Amino acid sequence: MTAIRKFTRGPHTVFHADCNDVLTSEIRDGSVDLIFADPPYNIGKRFVDFVDKWPTDSDYADWCKVWLEACIAKLAPTGSMYIMTSTQCMPYLDLYLRDRISVVSRIVWHYDSSGVQAKTKYGSMYEPILFCAKDPGNYTFNADDIRVEAPTGAKRKLIDYRKPVPATYSTTKVPGNTWFFPRVRFRMPEYENHPTQKPEVLLERIIAASSNPGDMILDPFAGTFTTCAVAQRLERQSIGIEREVDFVKIGLRRLGICDELDGERLRPLDKPYNRRNANGGRIPEPTDQPRLF
Ligand SMILES: C[S@@+](CC[C@H](N)C(=O)[O-])C[C@H]1O[C@@H](n2cnc3c(N)ncnc32)[C@H](O)[C@@H]1O
Repeated sequence: MTAIRKFTRGPHTVFHADCNDVLTSEIRDGSVDLIFADPPYNIGKRFVDFVDKWPTDSDYADWCKVWLEACIAKLAPTGSMYIMTSTQCMPYLDLYLRDRISVVSRIVWHYDSSGVQAKTKYGSMYEPILFCAKDPGNYTFNADDIRVEAPTGAKRKLIDYRKPVPATYSTTKVPGNTWFFPRVRFRMPEYENHPTQKPEVLLERIIAASSNPGDMILDPFAGTFTTCAVAQRLERQSIGIEREVDFVKIGLRRLGICDELDGERLRPLDKPYNRRNANGGRIPEPTDQPRLF
């Protein structure tokens, strides 16, 4: 086991360590209300010194089973867990998890691509997410906190005459299992220097739906600590675990836990929207003007 470094401020804790070590030694069984796990995808991406490619898919699945098992043990009896991985590896995890926990929804997060387009196959434009509950009869799902617009296509409000007293159809609905959110891009204020940062809007939906204020949220592969930052904004407690010190620094700064680590000041990226004038005000970018498209 490698050394575990722990940083806490109020209800938020950052661990600099391997998640398996933290899960086994630092977190009580049954103490977590919601887990969001976004591990390396086994697709050859570089995370500082680590390239996320296992010799075979089943080696990757075996590695996942260890932390999945530990995560299931940490969940409260009413807890939920959202798992992400690559489209090609998700079937291994899905088949394993359906015997261990209830898979409630299989979600597709899709997005547009403005980058390199595939020419010899259909380009990859989505990532799968499994939503699982420890007890399918008793889990948090705040449907009213995540409602979205339900466009009917009609100019006037449609009336539902099947009701005892006819009433207009609801203009909002609970989202289905295909979610469109743009990926995090360099120009977005939330952007951090990480190869696979997840958008805050994605975590907002998950945390708002599957937890309540004060609940404990755990992210064993925290990366830029998006989960913990959103948990903090939505007044939940959080634990984030990350193995790479460069990403731990992002989390410590993003959560306001400390502004220095090992003698280094933790500054936001030098981006135009982070630059301040002498009075501390933000210096606007030319592109901050409202866009007409
Ligand atoms: C797909 S990224 C997570 C991105 C994150 N959801 C975000 O929004 O920034 C996976 C992260 O897990 C970290 N990681 C890989 N193996 C780990 C392990 N065994 N324990 C803890 N962190 C690990 C990587 O360094 C990487 O930052």
